[in-house]
Amino acid sequence: MQKKEKLYEGKAKIVYTTDDPDLLIAWFKDDATAFDNTKKGTIVDKGIINNTISSRLFEMLAKSRVPNHFVEKLSDRELLIRKLKMIPLEILVRNVVAGSLAKRMGMAEGTPLKRTILEFCYKDDSLHDPQINEDHVLVFDLCTDQELINIRNMALKVNEVLIPFFDKLGIRLVDFKLEFGRYRGETYLGDEISPDSCRLWDKKTGEKLDKDRFRRDLGGIEEAYKTVLDRVLKGA
Ligand code: TMP
Ligand code: ASP
Repeated sequence: MQKKEKLYEGKAKIVYTTDDPDLLIAWFKDDATAFDNTKKGTIVDKGIINNTISSRLFEMLAKSRVPNHFVEKLSDRELLIRKLKMIPLEILVRNVVAGSLAKRMGMAEGTPLKRTILEFCYKDDSLHDPQINEDHVLVFDLCTDQELINIRNMALKVNEVLIPFFDKLGIRLVDFKLEFGRYRGETYLGDEISPDSCRLWDKKTGEKLDKDRFRRDLGGIEEAYKTVLDRVLKGA
């Protein structure tokens, strides 16, 4: 499958058209950004690591009947994906208090939640991806009632699959972000699932194995991503 024109360049990936109108190629970059693009850097080999982790997780989720855009990992940095019509939402799935939730509620990071919380953000960089609720989603026609039901169910299913998977690898799945789209009338999971989009804490030491090392200048970012990669490949 050949890359044709550049369709879109995001913060972490470049997306190209292919000779098949239903398929795209995502090329994973090493660029890292945080806090609305105000903090910028490079994480060496991040693109290779995230493509490998994401491919593995998408394959696993497809087997668990979570329809997603994954078709085939083409190379270190290239992923062949279905062309989704993206829904402009970021769905945050939280199992443990951390990050912006800790700040908002004035609670300690690491506090367990009695059940999973789903949050919705309107994906618009110029507005800084504001948090919205399900009424906003429906009133502003960001998706249909049925799509919202699908998104909720699929996000919870992803969580159900990933919690035990990471647990076996000695990793606590604290929270993560998902994006969805439409493909041939169905709701599909898109984007990526990687240490960029998840909080992953070592179960024994509590060490952060994700992008918070970059956001918070903790150092050891490449090693952390490599640790997740090695464990995911072992669990594969
Ligand atoms: P938060 O605590 O900063 O709201 O983030 C919750 C989770 O979602 C965390 O795993 C990071 C992920 N996330 C992204 O991947 N991209 C984003 O733009 C945001 C806001 C969060
Ligand atoms: N990816 C987002 C940004 O670049 C937020 C984050 O992951 O911290 O601003």
